[in-house]
Formats: sequence, C-alpha cells, structure tokens
Amino acid sequence: MTKVIKNGTIVTHDLTYKADVLVDGGKIIEIGEGLTGDEEIDATGCYVMPGGIDPHTHLEMPFMGTYSADDFESGTRAALAGGTTMVVDFALPSPGQGLLDALKMWDNKSTRAHCDYSFHMAVTWWGEQVFDEMETVVKERGINTFKHFMAYKGALMVQDDEMYASFQRLAELGAIAMVHAENGDVVADLSAKLLAEGNNGPEGHAYSRPPQVEGEATNRAIMIADMAGVPLYVVHTSCEDSHEAIRRARQQGKRVWGEPLIQHLTLDESEYFNQDWDHAARRVMSPPFRNKQHQDSLWAGLQAGSLSVVATDHCAFTTDQKRTGIGDFTKIPNGTGGLEDRMPMLWTHGVGTGRLTPNEFVAITSANIAKILNCYPRKGAIRVGSDADIVVWDPEAEKTITAGAQQSAIDYNVFEGKKVKGLPRYTLSKGRVMFDTGKMLGQEGHGEFVKRAPLGEVNKALSSWKQITAPRPVERSGIPASGV
Ligand code: URP
Ligand code: ZN
Ligand code: ZN
Ligand code: ZN
Repeated sequence: MTKVIKNGTIVTHDLTYKADVLVDGGKIIEIGEGLTGDEEIDATGCYVMPGGIDPHTHLEMPFMGTYSADDFESGTRAALAGGTTMVVDFALPSPGQGLLDALKMWDNKSTRAHCDYSFHMAVTWWGEQVFDEMETVVKERGINTFKHFMAYKGALMVQDDEMYASFQRLAELGAIAMVHAENGDVVADLSAKLLAEGNNGPEGHAYSRPPQVEGEATNRAIMIADMAGVPLYVVHTSCEDSHEAIRRARQQGKRVWGEPLIQHLTLDESEYFNQDWDHAARRVMSPPFRNKQHQDSLWAGLQAGSLSVVATDHCAFTTDQKRTGIGDFTKIPNGTGGLEDRMPMLWTHGVGTGRLTPNEFVAITSANIAKILNCYPRKGAIRVGSDADIVVWDPEAEKTITAGAQQSAIDYNVFEGKKVKGLPRYTLSKGRVMFDTGKMLGQEGHGEFVKRAPLGEVNKALSSWKQITAPRPVERSGIPASGV
C-alpha cells in the first residue's frame, strides 16, 4: 500500500520546494509533482519535513534513587505527538557493570517504542572490561557515541585520567566522545556549603552550579579530546561560558559540537525563585536554567553555527519524586521533560521570531543530528531511499501547552501555559501515520533500533590530520658520542 503526501512544501536543511512525496515499505520511493498513491495525506498549507531526532533522552533511567517516569512507551508517544520520529537514549552501566550487560537492560526497556531509537553508551567507570567491551559496542552493536559525566561526584562522575584513556580508545575505534560538562568537585563543595548555610531549597541547586563550573569543564573536555584526537559532542550546553569554549575550539579547527536544550533556550533562572516549592523543584535539572544573556548567547550560536543541534535531555520525574528533596536540594531528582514540546517551542521562538529559517530549523532538529551521529541520509532527510520518518507541519496551528493534554506520564509540564504556533498535523514513522491532527494513533513496538556505524567522515578527517601531525623522531646524522 503506497501513501502519497500531497500539496505540501518540502523543507529540508538545504531546500524548500513544492512536491508530493510517495511512500512505500517504510521508505520514501518518489518525490515529484502530481504523484498518486493508494492513500492520500493532505499537506495543503503545510511544510513536509524530516521528522525530528532528539539526540538526548533518558527514558526509564535509574537515577538518584528512582527511575525517570517516562519509559520508551510514553516517551516515544510524546515524541511523535510533537513531530519527533527518533530518540537517542543513554545506556547507563552502574559502576562496575559491563557495557554489554547494561545494553541488555536497554534492549529490554526499548521493546515498546512507538518510533525508531538508538543508544549512546555511557562510560561511568574505567577498567579493562570497559576498554575491551567498547570494541564490541562499536563494531557489533552499532553505537558510535560514548558519554562521560564530569559531574555527579560519587555516582556517575569520571576523573580526567579515565576520560583521557576512554577518549583515546574512542579515537582508535572511530567513535565520538560526549561529555556532561560540569566540574563535579566544585559542585559538590558548593552544595555542601550552601546546605550548611541553610540554603536547602531548589534555588540552592542553581547556586551550586554557576556557569563557571560548566565553562571550565567544557574547556577541559575540549583540550583532553584534542590531545586524544577524538571528536567531541558537548551535551546540554546552557551558557555563554561553555558556548565560548566551543566557539573558540571550532574556530581553531577542533571537531566539537554543542547541544543546547529547548528548556535553556526558552526558560530562565527566575523559575527557581518561584514561591511555590513544587514549581521550582520541577525545574531542577543540570545544568540549571540561566539568565537572559546566556539564552541570547545560545540563540546566537544556533544562528552562527557555533552550536549545532537542539535536544531535550528528556528525563521526567513526577512531583512526588521531586519531593524526595524537600529540605535538601541535592536529593531532588535532576531532570525535566520536553519531548512533545521541543519542535513546537523551537518553531515558535525560533522561526516565529525570525531567529531561524525553516531550513535551519530542520538542520538543528534533525539533519545535523543525523549527520553527526552517522545515520544520514537514512534519517534527517526527505530523499528517495530515506526512511519515511516525516512530519507534516502546520505553521498556522496553535495551542497552549498544558499537562492535562500531554502524552508524558508526569503530572506537570515545565512549559505549562506557553502558547505555541506551529504544530504537527501528521507524524509518520517509517511510513505509518502515528499522529493525526491531535489524535495519537501510535503502535507499541513499531520502533526499531537504529545502528550507527563508526568512522564517520569527521573521524576519518581528524585521524588523517592526527597522523600527519603526530610526534616523529628527527633523523640525525653525526650524533655526538654520549658520556664525556
Ligand atoms: O538534570 C539532568 N540533566 N538529568 C538527566 C541526566 C543528565 O545529566 O543528563
Ligand atoms: Zn547530563
Ligand atoms: Zn507553578
Ligand atoms: Zn542527559
């Protein structure tokens, strides 16, 4: 059964043009004018874009004594309702647990996914087993991205020597290093001091993680990655201090990408000073929301190309879970949701304000991500042969975001009350309509794991450069005799 998406305007990262799209067997099989198919999807007045890819989610993640509340079922349902057709989640070994063992757990969790997904691997400790298993993860499991936590001291945090060893291994395997860049030692010290002084509310979380801890760690990770010869992806870049380090590195030719979140682009630090404890705690995440100057820096980075993609870091906890931290902000589970809202919020505040063009919107929500993660043009493109992960986007449709109408399993939404203009009319996952004008159709288990090969173009280029500039002994004739 073929489907044809008719009368829309195709928008990819590089082109805007009127054409119909014919879909069969989960793939795009033809693009052109006047196409016909067994079934018709009307895209009049709409943009036909590659479905969003969210490169950063934590679904059913064990963290801070609990599990994040959205699993692969509700999480991917939320994704599709917001025009996102692929999520990349972090497989997280507990300290001492093998990588392959952790992956088995993520394989089990993800069987209910409504849309395609992939995994990043986290390196939460270092040893021979991790070193050895990295090769299998890359070559057999199709995972080419490995995250390192420079924060969460005493839990997930790794030290510089471990990070350097891991980065060198990744360079060897043709994979990409990722970092959660915050100086965990400083955060731990500041947190203890704040608590001792009676600063135990959610605002203490923001005070304990100033932009400097992020700027310092970002710069350190960049330099370590450069010495190891590995490309670096900095997750949840939230401030100018971190952006500055990334911008400088890119101008020096280093292979570094920055990933702001939709939350940091549109919500600011005043949320933590709300009189309502629940309101503030629900917004506790790391790094915390920042002030207007930092937000402007992130928007400018997306416009200038010094920041590459927009994610959510979707890690949703219920109000009850957040209340574990009453009286001690360090016990509030860190994380916020956003999967359903990333695309409408970015369209509204990006394209709707003239900060972004529609093509740039596609680049930073989909195409750039697919390219960096090495699954382009299977994903992130409207091209013959690409997966039919497509969003039919109605730029005139409006709604007010409210928890009562969301797919996410939690009891609130950090964007509650925000008006958005620009919403999916249809979302297709591999040719199947999963969302139709406000109605969730979905199908548990429809989503499949997307393998991503190592040795992408950037890895190859960087490795050639590193070989050419590697230390070499100087060939000398007439070396003086040693000794006297
Ligand atoms: O607060 C956050 N970001 N929670 C999720 C885990 C992480 O650090 O990415
Ligand atoms: Zn993180
Ligand atoms: Zn409130
Ligand atoms: Zn995260």
